[in-house]
Amino acid sequence: SSSFPDFYHNDDKESFAFETCRERWPKILNDCIDDIKLALSKDQKYDASQADQIIDGFNSLIKNMANGDKLTDFPPEIITLIPNLQSFNDSLAKFATEGEKLTWLTAPWLFTECYLYRRIDALIKLQPSWKDFDIFEDKKQKSFQSTAPAVYELAKRYQSLHQESFSSGEKLNDQALKSLFKEFIDVCLWGNKIDLSLLANKSQDEVHAGQTAEKRIEAEKNIISNDTNQVWDYLVKLDQGRTHAKRMDFVLDNSGFETFTDLIFSLFLLDAQITETVVIHCKTRPWMVSDTMIKDIDILLDDLVDQSFFPESGAALQFIHSKLETYIKQGNIKLTDSEFWTIDLDYWHIDGGDASQLASSLYGDLIKSDLIFIKGDLNYRKTTADRKWDKTTPFVNAIGALSSNGLKIVSLRTCKADVCVGLPRGLDEKLSEEWHKSTGEIGGLWCSSGNWAVISFSEGNAK
Ligand code: F6P
Ligand code: MG
Repeated sequence: SSSFPDFYHNDDKESFAFETCRERWPKILNDCIDDIKLALSKDQKYDASQADQIIDGFNSLIKNMANGDKLTDFPPEIITLIPNLQSFNDSLAKFATEGEKLTWLTAPWLFTECYLYRRIDALIKLQPSWKDFDIFEDKKQKSFQSTAPAVYELAKRYQSLHQESFSSGEKLNDQALKSLFKEFIDVCLWGNKIDLSLLANKSQDEVHAGQTAEKRIEAEKNIISNDTNQVWDYLVKLDQGRTHAKRMDFVLDNSGFETFTDLIFSLFLLDAQITETVVIHCKTRPWMVSDTMIKDIDILLDDLVDQSFFPESGAALQFIHSKLETYIKQGNIKLTDSEFWTIDLDYWHIDGGDASQLASSLYGDLIKSDLIFIKGDLNYRKTTADRKWDKTTPFVNAIGALSSNGLKIVSLRTCKADVCVGLPRGLDEKLSEEWHKSTGEIGGLWCSSGNWAVISFSEGNAK
């Protein structure tokens, strides 16, 4: 019905969707069942018969997936409790008119994935003693702890940089600033390599192998589309024509190490006087296993200075902790959240006149930002609508209204799904061939492996 390429679907054999809905989601749901049982055994505030209801719900979802059952509407009593779930029912109705086959194993991938996490959330929210339980908190904490060496290294690096370069309060010269900007944008990019939903089929070690400085420099060649220079040129221009205090935003992805890298990058942007304010956008609910809620940042701050969590948490972590606390207290770092991030709608909706109230009010806020860092894979899929673009499509041609509605965005994303744009001609073919040769898998799955990454910029002023 549109002139855009089709969505990726759960029955596309070539897509990572295929294995995701058949293997990864059931595994994630089984982990959820274990986590309910564990929480019940540890904490008296949780009700056992309510736990049974949640677990029954999870088991039904697993069965629905295995059978390839239809995706059903959220029922009225749940809509009453959580009104914005109506968005999913509206989309199901709309997809039906477009002839989509709306089952767990055939529907559009991005929609189904969002729908799954809201089904999980709704099952929990319906049970009063469990409604504040974050089913993924345990996983998020364990994963953060397992990145301790990278956390120490990055904290030390930042502390010594600060002593060398920022303690005098003078602004660095442009050359030095640019090279540091490149360093920290890369740190922030590769921080996204960790994503707990992928641990469902990868070892911790495999996922964490990319985190030290040496690995990061080596990984530079794996950034297959890189607009960092354009972003920097934009920032220089912004500084010259400056009429107001600058604001930059982060649309966060994962909790723990990735958020730590986002916070370090924020410190850099503030200390280097590249911006006056950083606004950090979190999820309102547990999402995609590892995504960050505001309370996860509070927990992260406590973790940094907790010797039982990070045994080597010495001066450097103390330093980072107190810098962050100060900026938060002074309002230079603001934490916020929106229900928009956890509905099904893609980010083409983040536009002034959009029918979704959540989307248009978010636009009203984001338009005040000088630069919005959009982190990670799922956010990238929502930015490009998870459509089957030819991979040489320019980024600005794949982001709908975002290309021209004034939002200044830069996507920092390690590729964990099929969609990808902005690549040079021939690269997809070359990587596909190499991937197939080295793994025996379908070649196109190189793009879902997390080994490659993109940094893509749009100034929001395309004609
Ligand atoms: O399959 C891709 C995936 O694992 C999806 O679950 C989700 O789109 C995404 O990656 C999560 O990754 P990130 O945390 O980087 O958004
Ligand atoms: Mg995530």
